[in-house]
Amino acid sequence: MTYRLVVNGEPAEVGVPGMRRLLDVLREDLGLTGTKEGCGEGECGACTVLVDGEVVVSCLVPVCQVDGSVVRTVEGLAVAGGSALAPLQAAFLEAGGAQCGICTPGMLMAADAFLAAGAEPTDDAIRGAIAGNLCRCTGYTKIVDAIRLAAERRQAGAGAA
Ligand code: FES
Ligand code: FES
Repeated sequence: MTYRLVVNGEPAEVGVPGMRRLLDVLREDLGLTGTKEGCGEGECGACTVLVDGEVVVSCLVPVCQVDGSVVRTVEGLAVAGGSALAPLQAAFLEAGGAQCGICTPGMLMAADAFLAAGAEPTDDAIRGAIAGNLCRCTGYTKIVDAIRLAAERRQAGAGAA
């Protein structure tokens, strides 16, 4: 069966079984290996991507459920054709929000959805936004700091525009 998606702004077509995981379609069929597999059971959030703007764990989503959807992965964050970091990625780097990095793509996508929603970047709101993403390294504080920094810069930029 052929499934059609729009991935990071580009049309993509894959001929695969309908129950193939979106995670495998992204990594193996489309070569987008930025999305990581941690638990494979919907618990860790490492495989988080956005589908039609919603946060999903791609290890639990069969491709047949997302036929025709718009998918955004960590590769879609980078700017200037992938040669420059997005402001959110730069904030993670500055604040020390990435250490081993296995959780980072999923954290970035959950944070991307949080920023897009435009909510006030309080500690509680940020921690709620990344509640489905586990990190074994950072203790979360630096990740929260990074997301707050990105949100504040975004708001300042919007105010200046
Ligand atoms: S790999 Fe999907 S939630 Fe852990
Ligand atoms: S940076 Fe290592 S799991 Fe989060």
